[in-house]
Amino acid sequence: MHPILTAKNLSRHFNSLKAVDGIGFSVAKGECFGFLGPNGAGKTTTIKMIYGVLPPSGGELHIFDLPVQERLREIKRRLGVVMQKDILEETVSAWDNMLMQGRYYGFDKKYIHERGKYLLEMLALLDRADEPVFHYSGGMKRRLSIAKGLLNEPELLLLDEPTTGLDPQARHLLWAKLGEIKKKGTSILLTTHYMHEAEFLCDRLVVIDHGKIIAEGTPKGLVEKYGCKNLEEVFLELTGRDLRE
Ligand SMILES: Nc1ncnc2c1ncn2[C@@H]1O[C@H](COP(=O)(O)OP(=O)(O)O)[C@@H](O)[C@H]1O
Ligand SMILES: [Mg+2]
Repeated sequence: MHPILTAKNLSRHFNSLKAVDGIGFSVAKGECFGFLGPNGAGKTTTIKMIYGVLPPSGGELHIFDLPVQERLREIKRRLGVVMQKDILEETVSAWDNMLMQGRYYGFDKKYIHERGKYLLEMLALLDRADEPVFHYSGGMKRRLSIAKGLLNEPELLLLDEPTTGLDPQARHLLWAKLGEIKKKGTSILLTTHYMHEAEFLCDRLVVIDHGKIIAEGTPKGLVEKYGCKNLEEVFLELTGRDLRE
């Protein structure tokens, strides 16, 4: 299938540090594609280049067949992004957060209300959507960030470590919700350092370490290729290190 995102020899240096060091990958429409790697691997740097907030030091990046730097405005309208740290207005309600997001895009109130209601319901927030966000648990805040990220009906949703810091119950609920979002046709690119998350959610993934892709495939294919029981062992096999360290 024709990819909706293609990166070729993409890199980003910070002075002498090669945070992302010549990576290539593509994301197909409708799939959930994972970036699996330890802290400092270059995951957030890659997401930031995709979202256009960080210019690459080299290589090519196309989203929806458009070059990212040159066509950023168009691309951004078709992307949803949820960064590692929730960016929410805590003193006001979930509804007000959705309204602010909608205004940023220039949507009218009717649209924001209809789409907002649908998303808050889907993400199990509607019954508490009038409460100020500082009342919310970490899982609820994360789900609200995702609702905000979906307000513009993005074709591709970027999620940077969506479940880091959440308890197991909140993590499982979020996995179920991401499954629903994917089923409705949204392509997803997510980063994680949880191997179970990658195994559970991703159709395909790359394993990234020190800014380089060290393996790629389907979760099952990688486990089979390296003769391992799970992705945890694959990472250990490839690097001699434990991903959780
Ligand atoms: N703005 C920056 N200036 C200097 N170094 C940075 C900057 N952003 C990230 N880095 C470094 O780049 C490497 C990759 O970081 P990052 O992409 O955040 O990793 P990850 O998200 O996989 O944990 C790390 O060594 C980090 O310290
Ligand atoms: Mg990160």
